[in-house]
Amino acid sequence: MSIPVLTIDGPSGAGKGTISWAVAKKLGWNYLDSGAIYRALAIAVLDQGAGLDDEAEIAKIAKQMQLSFECNEELTVLLGGEDISSRLGSEETGAVASKIAALPEVRKVLLQKQRDFKQQPGLVADGRDMGTVVFPDARYKVFLTADAATRAKRRYKQLIEKGIDANLTQITHDIEERDRRDRERSVAPLEMAENAHYIDSSNKSIVAVINEVFDFID
Ligand code: DC
Repeated sequence: MSIPVLTIDGPSGAGKGTISWAVAKKLGWNYLDSGAIYRALAIAVLDQGAGLDDEAEIAKIAKQMQLSFECNEELTVLLGGEDISSRLGSEETGAVASKIAALPEVRKVLLQKQRDFKQQPGLVADGRDMGTVVFPDARYKVFLTADAATRAKRRYKQLIEKGIDANLTQITHDIEERDRRDRERSVAPLEMAENAHYIDSSNKSIVAVINEVFDFID
């Protein structure tokens, strides 16, 4: 029997993580946070001191990295057995992830690792290229976005709540920079899949967006 996949793509801060996690829980499906894979690789690259434009070396690190995800109350990510969850969300990790995500060899190595998450009874996959490249045959595709100012404010709130020092002007600048890089890269850029359902979450509550996703996949 074919395994149903729901892809949720969009820029950072659109609410993909929160929505995808909640929808996966409700459906009882598996969850792939593909951004966490790029972020984990960013941590491995920083820890090993590789140059951020050394494509061959970073692809090698990607091939060798031992990554595992545990989905319980929250997502726990283990890199080589070490819990790196608390390091995943930092702005530095996000910026480095976005840089190394532009390297074609690196994306190629990570492709199969992401496809391996497609298991019964289904998968909710969140990222930038889930519906366009990783799971082009997905049964359901959503493109979730919000305007840059709203996304920056959400990100700011998230960081403050986690006790991480943050500056709204800097975050707005960083988000715009990351958007530009993710959209303009030559391989698997952030773009809406042709048959995706478009949701702008700028003025919508989390519950309203979750309901809209369920209406769409019903
Ligand atoms: O969703 P996120 O902010 O955790 O993702 C971090 C970076 O990883 C993002 O700026 C670009 C990259 N990424 C990607 O290129 N493709 C994906 N499917 C997911 C993330």
